[in-house]
Amino acid sequence: MSSSTVAGWLEPSEAHAGEVRKLSTLLEASQALSATLDLKESLQRVLEILGRHHGAIRSTVVLLNEHTGEVELEASAGAIAPGKRVRYRVGEGITGQVVQTGKPMVVPRVSREPAFLNRAADRPELSQEELTYISAPIALDHKTVGAIGIDLRFKAERDYARTVKFLGVVGSMIAQAVKVHRLIEAEKQRLVDENTHLRQELKERYDFSNLVGTSGPMRQVYEQIAQVARTNTTVLLRGESGTGKELIAHAIHYNSPRAKKPFIKVSCAALPQDLIESELFGYEKGAFTGAHAPKKGRFEVAEGGTLFLDEIGELNLATQVKLLRVLQDREFERLGGTETIRTNIRLIAATNKDLEKAIAAGEFREDLYYRLNVFSIFVPPLRERKPDVLLLADYFLEKFSREHSKQVKRISTPAIDMLSSYHWPGNVRELANVIERAIVVCDAQVVHAHHLPPTLQTAEASGTGQTATLRDSLEAFERDALQDALKSARGNRAKAARLLATTERIFNYRVRKYGIDWRRFK
Ligand SMILES: Nc1ncnc2c1ncn2[C@@H]1O[C@H](COP(=O)(O)OP(=O)(O)OP(=O)(O)O)[C@@H](O)[C@H]1O
Ligand SMILES: [Mg+2]
Repeated sequence: MSSSTVAGWLEPSEAHAGEVRKLSTLLEASQALSATLDLKESLQRVLEILGRHHGAIRSTVVLLNEHTGEVELEASAGAIAPGKRVRYRVGEGITGQVVQTGKPMVVPRVSREPAFLNRAADRPELSQEELTYISAPIALDHKTVGAIGIDLRFKAERDYARTVKFLGVVGSMIAQAVKVHRLIEAEKQRLVDENTHLRQELKERYDFSNLVGTSGPMRQVYEQIAQVARTNTTVLLRGESGTGKELIAHAIHYNSPRAKKPFIKVSCAALPQDLIESELFGYEKGAFTGAHAPKKGRFEVAEGGTLFLDEIGELNLATQVKLLRVLQDREFERLGGTETIRTNIRLIAATNKDLEKAIAAGEFREDLYYRLNVFSIFVPPLRERKPDVLLLADYFLEKFSREHSKQVKRISTPAIDMLSSYHWPGNVRELANVIERAIVVCDAQVVHAHHLPPTLQTAEASGTGQTATLRDSLEAFERDALQDALKSARGNRAKAARLLATTERIFNYRVRKYGIDWRRFK
């Protein structure tokens, strides 16, 4: 082996230096490839390194587009017509052939290669010099996914085999980077898809149409939701526990221009009072013992979207002051922080507390109350919207049947009566629980009275509950019998009494009691 062949495309005297340069090129290239997740950018850097260290006059990386089947230019360095889109079909041109065959190709003298004729015409600046073109495949999992090509100055003594090998190593390093990039892209796409899906699901779940109920009071609530949703106004939701305040908060958000931004809920009651401020406003590192790293508060997380402060009546006075400031100035600082953070959120607050009473008792700041009470929606208790009870019961029947994989189809009339006459102190939440329980214990297609919990049974039985039902049905039976007899006797009361084997006196007494008009039967 002559010294000139050892040195690849370098001068014989530079043989040793050339080997060192190749190794350092590979090292630099691998660093460039792992430095950034931007594939184009890292390829670009690799090509620049090849130009700098190895006198590549021009170099390109092409990759096969899996969808179109076309070979596309990913990165290039050196002389290339700017802004030119380079595309080949697989098999077309030298590069296309390398991608198709997976084998490197060497064109010692570009000027003599017919495939390069038009390329030379494109680039008159290179026509003075004789060039050598070398291309090596980029292979991933035994499949060629692209090629790297370089133009070098023609030198008669160049050892093409070694150069091809070197370029092949660079190609396989690029292949690894492409692999990582594709994995990341696939994962990213999966996350994007999942996110889109979840958003859609959320939207569906909290769409307006998921609010069940057509009663007058609820229709009024829908109207208010529709009015306020498209604005940025602070909303205060008031109503007993379980009336659907949270559901309404969702409906407002998902029907607002902020629907694509986050909906963040903070329950003011669930958090210990000393944690709530750091939860709301976040903190800087070292703000208190245990604050090892800075943390964003919910105000920051909700940026651009909606912040839902549930059970705001439970907020302590110190935090009320801070919240008031955010509502007034639209800015705050993290705990232990000095930087003022501007915030753009829509606030929805909810409470089942009598805030006016809390103000009188000095537990709730009046100024905060006025800030919150810009647009109030009173969610009526279920007992004030009786027509919705059956709609909701059917809705939950279907929902929980599906969830528990049961075939329960309807609710029996006595069970419906029990549902209708109950006063629902726990509102819609209680109704949902009652129906879910019934579905669980129900072993047929129909929910019967005995599938309902004791609270509803005792409600019926207590006072006049079940006796009333017995008396009612006996009376209904008696009334029917009296009328039947009158019909048969054509309004003759003596005859009707005989038909019923009773005296005329008792018969007349009963007829009067039920207010039956015997003359109608004549
Ligand atoms: N109109 C409705 N249509 C369908 N489901 C409803 C309706 N109202 C309430 N619900 C359901 O009832 C349950 C209780 O509602 P939600 O949590 O919104 O009540 P809340 O007013 O926030 O109660 P709390 O004050 O106790 O937090 C939830 O499961 C909710 O999905
Ligand atoms: Mg709630």
